[in-house]
Amino acid sequence: MKVFKSKTELATYLKGKTNIGFVPTMGALHKGHISLIKLSLEQCQYTICSIFVNPTQFNDKNDLLRYPRTPEKDIKMLEEAGCDIVFVPENDEIYPEGDVLKEFDFGHLETVMEGKQRPGHFNGVANVVQRLFEIVKPHKAFFGQKDYQQLCIIKQMVKQLQLPIEIVAAEIIREPDGLAMSSRNALLETEERKQAAGIFETLQLIKSKSKELTPTQLLQLANDNIKKYPLIHLEYIVFANAETLQETIIFDKNISIIMFIAVKLGKVRLIDNMLLAS
Ligand code: PAF
Repeated sequence: MKVFKSKTELATYLKGKTNIGFVPTMGALHKGHISLIKLSLEQCQYTICSIFVNPTQFNDKNDLLRYPRTPEKDIKMLEEAGCDIVFVPENDEIYPEGDVLKEFDFGHLETVMEGKQRPGHFNGVANVVQRLFEIVKPHKAFFGQKDYQQLCIIKQMVKQLQLPIEIVAAEIIREPDGLAMSSRNALLETEERKQAAGIFETLQLIKSKSKELTPTQLLQLANDNIKKYPLIHLEYIVFANAETLQETIIFDKNISIIMFIAVKLGKVRLIDNMLLAS
């Protein structure tokens, strides 16, 4: 596996190569990331993973400082998975001095849920992903559906900038108790980690009742179920149109509905989602 720190050296190495699959990450890799690498290896000739904790997508400085960093372990996992190339840039490779961030307009997509809770977050994500795409010039890029709203934003960015990149969405990979894999899980204290299983339990419960209860009753049930886990502080639980992310409390059998949840356990913020009906 080749490791690059310099974007110029990486771009030179990639020049003329076709069928490049790209998995952008912020490191602290887990099986969810590795599933993206595996998908790329299956579908592309070269698989490249980037590891860069992007400061512009953190609206909370402490969250950025606390974000887990495990570079040696990450490189080992990528090597074992068969990844061809890893790109680990320093900050100034991505954000040279004097550089100004682009102001994207994603309309409604960036003002709901995570966009509302974390102002500026998606603009930071779009800036870094656009810059990484420019360096790597991938044919396909792979993103997990746990960050479903991020996936919608990236697809919209690719559309707006007319980039010739196929965005591939990969299913959520879960721990044995159902907790969606996330780099942030490593930050949970033992009891928080136990109670975090309540997130998936709630999503599953609502899905199982979605044909018999009204959306309002389902939301009430979700709120009641979460209360069984005193360490989980609910930020939001909503139903939204899977395409537009418009929040809804009316289910229409012609529209795919996803249930989105965001919680805090201690200082750790977790999100998850589940398709209810399509
Ligand atoms: O999902 C992530 O890990 C990050 O938001 C991404 C896409 C690598 C951009 O920094």
